[in-house]
Amino acid sequence: MRVFVILPAAGLGTRMAPGHTSQAAPKQFLEVAGVPILIHTLRAFAAVPEISSIVIAVRATERERLTAHVTEHGYASRVTVVEGGDSRQESVYNALRTLECDPDDIVLVHDAVRPLIEPAVIRRVIEAVEKHSAAIVGLPALDTIKQVERMADGAIVTATIPREYIVQAQTPQGFRCGLLRKAFAEAEADGFAGTDEASIVERAGTQVFVVPGSPSNIKITQPGDLELAEFYLAQRAATH
Ligand code: C5P
Repeated sequence: MRVFVILPAAGLGTRMAPGHTSQAAPKQFLEVAGVPILIHTLRAFAAVPEISSIVIAVRATERERLTAHVTEHGYASRVTVVEGGDSRQESVYNALRTLECDPDDIVLVHDAVRPLIEPAVIRRVIEAVEKHSAAIVGLPALDTIKQVERMADGAIVTATIPREYIVQAQTPQGFRCGLLRKAFAEAEADGFAGTDEASIVERAGTQVFVVPGSPSNIKITQPGDLELAEFYLAQRAATH
């Protein structure tokens, strides 16, 4: 059994404030502690020896820049670069199509913009997929969660969802390769768009196991997240 990794990195990062990102520097290329976010992410996966290869999906215009970073940091032998699509799902599917994986091999999908993922959590997902075929990292919800109905001038609460029924889905999300391929093919045939891989696999009728995540595994989305990532990295450097 081999373990493959897909890092979708073809987003434009439109939620970052102007000045932080642009066509010239989408968020996955912004630097945290002097290193591009994507390279921090790559480093975490490269530290897990069970992983045999990593595929990164980027926009065609960023292919060259990414390849240069990957080579500069010494990961060229384990990394393949493919072209992403217009949605995260499309980017992942493009990468999945290029994998030469057997049905029982494991595929982990991880947001390129979650650079603080720890190798121990990656291993936890791999172990859970070995047992359950599908597993994601989830974080218990600390806030009270409301279901709402959107109105023209805001929203009204329609229900309060008990917190014990809620986890916030993070990545990595891991699956047996055969299962993921089948679920993606079904989603494509039905025109289903999911916001993560698990929703596509759930829809195909497979139970997805949840392993505990870490609050530091943030998805860099808004400007303040860069400072938060710097803080977590500094804290880690001081304690290791
Ligand atoms: O936009 P969001 O923050 O949800 O993106 C999550 C991950 O999916 C990011 O790493 C982003 O680069 C990637 N993505 C992609 N292709 C897209 C949109 C997003 O690979 N078309």
